[in-house]
Amino acid sequence: MLQKMQIEGGYPLFGEINISGAKNLALPAIVTTLLTDNEITLTNVPNLSDVKSLLELLEYLGCYINSDLNNNKLKLKTANISSTEAPYDFVRKMRASILVLGPMVTRFGRASVSFPGGCAIGVRSIDLHIRTLQLLGAEITIDNGFIKAYAPNGLTGNDITFPIVTVTGTENSIMAAVLARGITRLINAAIEPEVEELCILLNTMGAKITGQGTSVITIEGVKKLHGTVFNIMPDRIEAGTYAIAAAITHGKLLLKNCIYKHLEIFFNTLQLNGITIEKTSNGVIIENNNEKINPIDISTAPYPGFATDLQAQYMALMTISNGISVIKENLFENRLMHVAELTRMGADIKVNGNTAIVKGVQNLKGAQVMATDLRASASLVLAGLAAKGTTVVNRLYHLDRGYENIDKKLQQCGAQVNRITV
Ligand code: EPZ
Repeated sequence: MLQKMQIEGGYPLFGEINISGAKNLALPAIVTTLLTDNEITLTNVPNLSDVKSLLELLEYLGCYINSDLNNNKLKLKTANISSTEAPYDFVRKMRASILVLGPMVTRFGRASVSFPGGCAIGVRSIDLHIRTLQLLGAEITIDNGFIKAYAPNGLTGNDITFPIVTVTGTENSIMAAVLARGITRLINAAIEPEVEELCILLNTMGAKITGQGTSVITIEGVKKLHGTVFNIMPDRIEAGTYAIAAAITHGKLLLKNCIYKHLEIFFNTLQLNGITIEKTSNGVIIENNNEKINPIDISTAPYPGFATDLQAQYMALMTISNGISVIKENLFENRLMHVAELTRMGADIKVNGNTAIVKGVQNLKGAQVMATDLRASASLVLAGLAAKGTTVVNRLYHLDRGYENIDKKLQQCGAQVNRITV
């Protein structure tokens, strides 16, 4: 059954939104179960289809899962493994499945993971994931669409320099190095909050990691890791998405548990747009009581720069600004697919390579639109909230990968949205 979201636009949003646990921390956190035979307990895990897809893979590999996702809780235990092969059907559904490669090689001495393949937003190369394992001593062969890694005598620490910042590439390397012999230094490592939190989680399991949150992470390998109980931090991308919902509807929302520091540059940009941002003891208040929205250019960059995962959502806001803004996407080669759909709603956007020139219009008009990827689908929902008339967003499965209970969260703040199954 296909699901669509029907949105009646023009209603300002007022109220508060509970920000759920961070998808891009929950995924690597779940994978840490492969590094120990003890039980891992995770709380504040977002109930998302990406999380469920990863759990299906881990169950296939032999992990014992006590899943209570309705209460955002997971207990995981991988005492031993029944397979070290991650088949294509699992990996193609959820690219972050590549994260099982490092942990399986370092704990079990072998792994065979299907190439994830590209996705809507780009080729999504994983050459750096593979290179790192080779530098740690794994023997790698590529065999009919699988990456096969062997390290029967375990891995050995090494200095690894990343030519470009890669979030999951850094995470895979960290998880491979925690059980390697000796010291590993990751240079030009990703400094995203999700990477920093993963290191903190691993240290609660007995890992010896320092430098997390900086571009040089040092890992002193240990023999074994033990279990842990760990709480997943709030999702900065979900929070940023709802911040735009408040701004684009000229409303006022409290983003409960949102961590201001994780969105500093993003919030600074919104303030330049004329949006009021207020830090509070339990989150961040976003208010737009201005008639006009100032156009401000952005250029996406690794953390702490303007997050690529908020680029599509920000573009929706710029379609109704009172001027021209330039939006540059620097991380992925095909992350402007929302432009075609926003244009169907009356937006005035010209694309030149990885740059979109957005000329603000008086208002958007509701239309039937097609979600193409996770964050593009969020952008279309945001545009629908502001548009005059009815918008129907198709292929809602994209949205459900990364936004827990989005309909309910929006409805509670006055949005006229309904999920329809056809
Ligand atoms: C993570 O993807 C996130 N996913 C993405 O969020 C996010 O957009 C991205 O980081 C950038 O912040 C998860 O954390 C699960 P990268 P990842 O490796 O790790 C190139 C969402 O919407 N690259 O940091 O796959 C790559 O092609 C998702 O929640 C290589 O060339 O991204 C890209 O151009 C979408 N070789 C750039 O690096 C490699 O081996 C950054 O990619 C690895 C990456």
